[in-house]
Amino acid sequence: MSTIHTLPLTSQSPPVAFNEPHSLAIRIWHWTFFAVITTSLITVLFGSTLFRTRDNIVTVQQQLQEKGATVNKDQARAVAHAYSDKLWDLHKYIGYVLTGLLLCRIIIEVVQPGEERLRTKIKKAAGFKPSSSADNATKRHVQHYGRVKWTYVIFYVLIVTMALTGLGLAFEDVPVFRAWHRGITKVHQFVQYFIYAFILIHIVGVIRSDMGRHKGLVSGMIHGTGHR
Ligand code: HEM
Ligand code: HEM
Repeated sequence: MSTIHTLPLTSQSPPVAFNEPHSLAIRIWHWTFFAVITTSLITVLFGSTLFRTRDNIVTVQQQLQEKGATVNKDQARAVAHAYSDKLWDLHKYIGYVLTGLLLCRIIIEVVQPGEERLRTKIKKAAGFKPSSSADNATKRHVQHYGRVKWTYVIFYVLIVTMALTGLGLAFEDVPVFRAWHRGITKVHQFVQYFIYAFILIHIVGVIRSDMGRHKGLVSGMIHGTGHR
């Protein structure tokens, strides 16, 4: 079995390591969340392209014309809109599952052992004091680790914002949500881009890390064991 060194040897060993163990709960959560958010993003992709109401009005008119029926733009729009609505309904139901998974993530944070909590990891990294200037590499490693964990916190804040605004759109019949509908839609539309950015940076980051200095990082999220 090979030992994986993620750092040059220094006099002070780092208090944190990227290749750390992950509990079964967090692993199941991560990959379920990955599958659900990917499905949700597919509905957004289709809803904003193939099923876009205004792009399908002419198609509906042409198809009916070929069958001998003439409908005006408004009538054709109603048909095109019905299909787009079906897709956004699906997006909404997947959104409920995603919101449930976020609640699970909060429960996991509370019940899992102290050292596995995101909060403890961030605190450990923030509390690190290099004992000499020879430990620069260790210092950079710990700072990088801390930054990575903070991006997860930022992501959680953003995705909770998506869930809350999504629920606001889903329950638009509630008077307060109806009154704020425009604002809620704008926030939901705007924050989506940060979610895409996180996903891109995250996937590129973990794959690069795994191929570089932190071999086994991705499989660690599957089998759970870390290397130091
Ligand atoms: C990854 C997270 C999500 C992304 C990227 C996303 C993206 C979007 C986008 C682009 C729209 C179209 C907005 C428009 O132009 O009118 C939308 C609509 C909507 N989203 Fe999300 N969303 C996400 C999560 C959620 C969640 C968690 C819920 C919770 C239920 C939700 C519920 C809704 C609802 C109800 C609509 C309105 C659909 C309609 O027009 O009938 N979304 N979402
Ligand atoms: C939509 C896609 C994804 C989302 C939203 C996502 C989200 C997350 C989040 C929030 C965490 C932090 C978990 C925590 O400790 O609280 C995490 C960790 C991790 N993810 Fe993902 N992930 C996605 C896709 C992937 C993919 C495709 C891979 C593998 C190629 C991956 C590999 C990892 C690894 C290895 C970690 C642990 C890294 C570390 O401890 O810093 N993720 N992911």
